[in-house]
Amino acid sequence: MAKMAIFYGSTSGITASVATKLHEYFTEEVCDIYSMEEDFMGADQMLEYDYLLFGCSTWGSGEVQNDWRDPIFDMSLEKPDFTGKTIALFGAGDCVTHGEQFVSALGTLYDHFKKLGATIVGQFPLDGYSYEYSFAVRDDKFVGLPIDEVNESDKTSERIAQWLEIIKQHFPNMSLKAA
Ligand SMILES: Cc1cc2nc3c(=O)[nH]c(=O)nc-3n(C[C@H](O)[C@H](O)[C@H](O)COP(=O)(O)O)c2cc1C
Repeated sequence: MAKMAIFYGSTSGITASVATKLHEYFTEEVCDIYSMEEDFMGADQMLEYDYLLFGCSTWGSGEVQNDWRDPIFDMSLEKPDFTGKTIALFGAGDCVTHGEQFVSALGTLYDHFKKLGATIVGQFPLDGYSYEYSFAVRDDKFVGLPIDEVNESDKTSERIAQWLEIIKQHFPNMSLKAA
């Protein structure tokens, strides 16, 4: 059975908790979970998997969460080949205080892994979100799942469930426990 992994970067724990929730939906035999801060060993570790979920919150003004910075820089030099890999993206942001760059880090990850040959799935509808600008919007959809625990925590569970329905079809060998 093809294996999948979740890699996440999270400063105050929000994206980490989403990663943990997502992990619960998959059986442990098929899904590993890694913190970018503590467990990331390099792109080769990601390339051991065919199916990947990448979590990254947005900081600064539209920048990727700190623990993703060096890995993205290193990969942009080393250019590991992600051809044939299926990747879905998720991450936390704040659509009110930082609505001028809402979850923009997801757009950076999208461009980065697309350039390395990956197939990115899990685009999410804009409905129900209110923000000024997001670098994570392409073709009238978010490139992944945006979570806003600061302003819309009541919508998080529903959004995760909706997103799992969307990505499920792209992860053919995965047995979801729920959703
Ligand atoms: C200094 C600062 C800058 C931020 N910049 C952004 C931003 O540009 N875009 C955004 O959507 N959220 C921004 N946020 C909000 C965080 O992404 C949000 O708090 C998120 O839940 C953090 O997730 P994490 O705990 O997984 O890192 C910022 C927060 C702070 C404190």
